Amino acid sequence: MKALQTVIVSLLLVLAIGCDYKYITPDTGAPVDPDDPISFSAEVEPIWTSQSCVNCHSGNGLFSLKQGEAYQSLIDNSLLDLENSANSKIVTVPGSSGLHSGYTYSGNQELIITTWIDQGAEDN
Ligand code: HEC
Repeated sequence: MKALQTVIVSLLLVLAIGCDYKYITPDTGAPVDPDDPISFSAEVEPIWTSQSCVNCHSGNGLFSLKQGEAYQSLIDNSLLDLENSANSKIVTVPGSSGLHSGYTYSGNQELIITTWIDQGAEDN
């Protein structure tokens, strides 16, 4: 009986708090080779278009993530952490909470962005 209670309580706990994690959508892209230079304009910028970030982040009061404008936004708003790419706001905010909970990256997209930052975050 005690065991059954433990199982039920555990299940309830999982139901109550188990869903509160950062959801990462399944990978569809090719693996990222950290030694292969990532192009900001060809590989990073299109992520913000494909993940609908530009619906809101189009420069109308909010910083822009549109192609051609995103790099300046990242710099002006200090959204990059060159020492610890995974700690960059451009990485941690999507999928986090509130209005960003529904806007996130796939694991592969996140890896493309962090690798590009690790490679020096060039406007290339
Ligand atoms: C529904 C509109 C909307 C969408 C879609 C959206 N954002 Fe945002 N975002 C906001 C608003 C509003 C703010 C400012 C208020 C806040 O921080 O929540 C913001 C803030 C941010 C910040 C923090 C800026 C700072 O200085 O702290 C980052 C980074 C960000 N968004 C990235 C993204 C990315 C990347 C995507 C796509 C995966 C995205 N957002 C999609 C509305 C949106």
